[in-house]
Amino acid sequence: MKMLSPPKAPTFYFIGVTTSQSSSRRMFPLWMEALGRSEVLLEGVDLEIHAAPGQYRDVVAHIRREPLALGALVTTHKIDLLAAASDLFDALGPYAQATGEVSSIAKENGRLIGRATDPVAGGLSLDAILGPGYFGRSGGHVLMLGAGGSAVALALHLMRKDRFADCPERFIVVNRSAPRLARLQEMVEREAGEKGSRTGFDFIQNNDSKRNDEILAGLPPGSVVVNATGMGKDTPGSPLTDGAIFPCDGVVWELNYRGELDFMCQAQDQQVDRNLTVVDGWEYFVHGWSQVISHVLHVDISASMFAKLAELAAAVR
Ligand SMILES: NC(=O)c1ccc[n+]([C@@H]2O[C@H](COP(=O)([O-])OP(=O)(O)OC[C@H]3O[C@@H](n4cnc5c(N)ncnc54)[C@H](OP(=O)(O)O)[C@@H]3O)[C@@H](O)[C@H]2O)c1
Repeated sequence: MKMLSPPKAPTFYFIGVTTSQSSSRRMFPLWMEALGRSEVLLEGVDLEIHAAPGQYRDVVAHIRREPLALGALVTTHKIDLLAAASDLFDALGPYAQATGEVSSIAKENGRLIGRATDPVAGGLSLDAILGPGYFGRSGGHVLMLGAGGSAVALALHLMRKDRFADCPERFIVVNRSAPRLARLQEMVEREAGEKGSRTGFDFIQNNDSKRNDEILAGLPPGSVVVNATGMGKDTPGSPLTDGAIFPCDGVVWELNYRGELDFMCQAQDQQVDRNLTVVDGWEYFVHGWSQVISHVLHVDISASMFAKLAELAAAVR
């Protein structure tokens, strides 16, 4: 990571892995103009996946210290950043407390506030993809490949659904290493509390794509399969082999919208034959950015303004 120098103009930071390749670079100035804040600049901060805690602390301390650093959007590093720098925040929003992650860093009356926006942004996107009562209609399960920040957020979103028909009977999570699985399991148990959960969870530690194919093959028709590993963008490849067979009438959601997107290509190859709905992470991206910009710049984004921002984003995608 390059050293951050004191900003000379109001600056919004974007903390990710390959930020220069994101559509947000082109989108941001258009959004600032639409919101009447064209003086605000965007600066990307690229960190390796699971970077050293000191690097996360340096970025958060910089934002905290510099008056012209307005705040930040955090992607990929949402869990590691909060684990490394929680003491640098003055307060955390309720979703940040529930999920242990921060995707929005904002300043309010001189206090540094961390929020998790994925349960709302990811949740709005998932609801738009599935429509109301999807699990009641389809009987499908959820296979979440990856147990990082987005997986936690989407699990929380589904657990907080009021209607039975919006809750899957089973939610299977696969992660290559144990700590993230344990963290997700803790969140699920805490959230379920004494009243329990309508959804049964399976937590599987696995880093073998052939085993993932087998888990996929065991899903009922109509299941929802999510690539929340970052593979196909942050790292090469797919968590599945090219021999994987998706469930008939299923929904396949790749959380990213850029990169090689190998997992999404695997699903597209079977889209017609198996009647799959295949969706990328574009809408998730637009919701996520609008949520964080609303916190950092202290602006309300109405439905009509959101529609305008989405249109501007689509033009430079
Ligand atoms: N469209 C959008 O706006 C949007 C929004 C949110 C997220 N995303 C994207 O979605 C991806 C996930 O985001 P995130 O915030 O959840 O990231 P994250 O916190 O880094 O989580 C990724 C998880 O996937 C696991 N993993 C990696 N390869 C795996 C494999 N082959 N099999 C099983 N598990 C594997 C990692 O395990 P370890 O713990 O072992 O590393 C990690 O727990 C990122 O690429 C991010 O850019 C996009």
